[in-house]
Amino acid sequence: MPTFYDDWLNMWDKSREEFNKARKWIHEEEVEYVETQQDAKVGLLVTPETGFRTWGSTSMISEIPVGAHTGTHKHGEEAIHIITGSGFSTVNGVRYNWEPFSTLLIPFGAVHQHFNTGDVPARYFSVMSPHLEFWCGMARFTQYDNWGKTTALPTVPVSENGFDDRGRRIVLKIGEAPTTMGAEGGPGLAPEDILEIDPEKPIVLGTIEGYAAAGIRPGLHNAGGVNFMRVGKDTNGWHPYEQEISSYLINEPHDEGGTHAHMEAHLYIIQGSGYSIVDGEKISWKEGTCFHVQGPQTKHQHINTSDVQSKQIRVAPGIRYFFEAMAKEEFPYLYYKVRPRLLREKAAAERERERERS
Ligand SMILES: [Fe+2]
Repeated sequence: MPTFYDDWLNMWDKSREEFNKARKWIHEEEVEYVETQQDAKVGLLVTPETGFRTWGSTSMISEIPVGAHTGTHKHGEEAIHIITGSGFSTVNGVRYNWEPFSTLLIPFGAVHQHFNTGDVPARYFSVMSPHLEFWCGMARFTQYDNWGKTTALPTVPVSENGFDDRGRRIVLKIGEAPTTMGAEGGPGLAPEDILEIDPEKPIVLGTIEGYAAAGIRPGLHNAGGVNFMRVGKDTNGWHPYEQEISSYLINEPHDEGGTHAHMEAHLYIIQGSGYSIVDGEKISWKEGTCFHVQGPQTKHQHINTSDVQSKQIRVAPGIRYFFEAMAKEEFPYLYYKVRPRLLREKAAAERERERERS
């Protein structure tokens, strides 16, 4: 007679089946926008409601009309990236100004509201983990008032430095975000340091610190990035736990990224077009596409086929790091191949040395 234990033995296969059947990407034209108490216009991207099998995480796009504001509410931690428009947010009674490509982190339980003070609709990409919170009995959304036209701006103190009174970063403007570009091999990266990896024996990066341990430097994975926040790291003074908008992954025109495998991520395209090979499947993307790296160990590579730099907003839910640390032997972070351009450069440098010797 079957027992609970038979169900447990079947759990892995059952989840693989669910991952296989789940949706893998959504394009802007497929997004269904609705009006809610909170937002004049909001559409879900990668989330269980749209057919994805996430780890309880949700990404979405919201729009604040000109002269309007969102509702006031609170819930779990939320990370936000402004796509268009300018305005400000009030977070626990303090005003934080933002502009296109600003990034914000709303701390867990902070009362917040967003105002569009510009002359174009303000569009923002945001990520939360309501389904994970619900599973843990932690999801509590509290609505104080609804979205509407702005008649008077709130008279609240303005944050001068983007930090709250507890020393936590709330907003970072794009010009203040550090950039790492490794397009030509990265600063200080000599061709002989570039790793050639046997795809049959991928490098194991047990933790996010594994990059450093393995001598892998920025630029080997993608051409570069603009860095925002990281869970567990004091990057730019942010302290995210539940959700991170870590960076833009940038690849040069007609360039390929490295091949690697890791836990869950959402990728939202804000510039360029191309495709990614995710778990052997080709996913085409363009501006406004959001796609899912399912985890716990999804092999993938990003290829920019356009004439401009590709910029992907990289999102990682915090629960990933909870498991990444403890499951590093069972589900290690793997590196299969560095960026092909670096390997070509390394080969060219070797040919050059060969020529000098002869
Ligand atoms: Fe990745």
